[in-house]
Amino acid sequence: MERARAAAPAPWTPQRVRWVRRWTDHLFSFAIDRPEDFRFRSGEFVMIGLPSLDGTGKPTLRAYSIASPSWSDELEFFSIRVEDGPLTSRLVDIQPGDEVLLGKKPTGTLVLDALKPGRRLFLIGTGTGLAPWLSVARDPETYERFDQVVITHTVRQVADLAYRDFLQTDLFEDPLVGEVAQGRLTYYPTVTREAFERPGRITDRIASGDFFRDLGLDGRFDPALDRVMLCGSTAMIREAAALLESHGLSEGSNAEPGDYVLERAFVG
Ligand SMILES: Cc1cc2nc3c(=O)[nH]c(=O)nc-3n(C[C@H](O)[C@H](O)[C@H](O)COP(=O)(O)OP(=O)(O)OC[C@H]3O[C@@H](n4cnc5c(N)ncnc54)[C@H](O)[C@@H]3O)c2cc1C
Ligand SMILES: NC(=O)c1ccc[n+]([C@@H]2O[C@H](COP(=O)([O-])OP(=O)(O)OC[C@H]3O[C@@H](n4cnc5c(N)ncnc54)[C@H](OP(=O)(O)O)[C@@H]3O)[C@@H](O)[C@H]2O)c1
Repeated sequence: MERARAAAPAPWTPQRVRWVRRWTDHLFSFAIDRPEDFRFRSGEFVMIGLPSLDGTGKPTLRAYSIASPSWSDELEFFSIRVEDGPLTSRLVDIQPGDEVLLGKKPTGTLVLDALKPGRRLFLIGTGTGLAPWLSVARDPETYERFDQVVITHTVRQVADLAYRDFLQTDLFEDPLVGEVAQGRLTYYPTVTREAFERPGRITDRIASGDFFRDLGLDGRFDPALDRVMLCGSTAMIREAAALLESHGLSEGSNAEPGDYVLERAFVG
């Protein structure tokens, strides 16, 4: 007689929501408990989700960059709300104490290990593509490997500059990295659809040279010194990667570290 096969364990576990912060009606952050056996490298992403509405069907899971650093006892995420999005139209309503499903296998290329050694690290993000930089910027290893770290965040409206106070001020009070980040981490926000001190897309500011002028750097990326990570829409990644290639930088991966790495945070 054939023995009944044991059901495979689910590739996710339910975790308790600790806090939720709403930035605008379409951007929010939240943190969940981190299981003791959940290991990841700063900059990686993981599947998270919610059970099916009737509780019997397949859960709705999506890839999310982990915004907290690898040493943290909680897992933080920075999320968009897509109007009719299967996950985020529901996720936007979560409250502390609710449960969110957490995948078991974090992965990704936006990690220090995928870059060759260098002096300056540029973390270029649009929209929720800021999330992995919040992880990398809070990891002491980042400052062991790089002398200077620049985080760029391009959004449509000023209100979309989530984590602005954190990156301008609060991070420098962090007990673990605050001191070492002081004077070495630069936050570079740009806004495209509203008046702002630094207007326009980051790609345009790099191409025009404004980016380098603002930071007091020579007018180009230097393949001998500069390493770059890209995260955001497919269009931004494509354009930014072409710019980096034109400056002589080559794409890297976990298997073969390079001068820059990228991750498409969403299609569009
Ligand atoms: C590697 C990876 C990492 C990701 N990390 C994040 C993250 O940290 N935070 C986050 O909010 N999303 C992230 N995403 C996108 C995420 O997986 C979902 O697409 C998003 O949560 C919307 O889910 P949904 O089911 O509501 O809508 P979906 O059906 O998944 O998306 C519907 C449409 O909404 C748009 N969209 C989806 N996500 C975004 C976004 N983040 N910003 C702008 N437009 C978007 C796209 O046009 C997409 O086709 C990531 C995706 C990938 C592949
Ligand atoms: N952000 C909002 O205010 C807002 C409000 C309600 C709903 N939504 C919806 O949310 C979804 C995602 O919006 P989002 O603003 O988070 O993401 P997004 O559309 O990717 O825009 C984020 C930033 O990236 C810039 N960008 C877009 N393509 C680029 C490219 N090829 N190179 C360089 N930069 C590029 C945008 O500049 P440009 O402005 O020049 O495109 C914008 O400043 C959209 O469907 C939108 O309708 C957004």
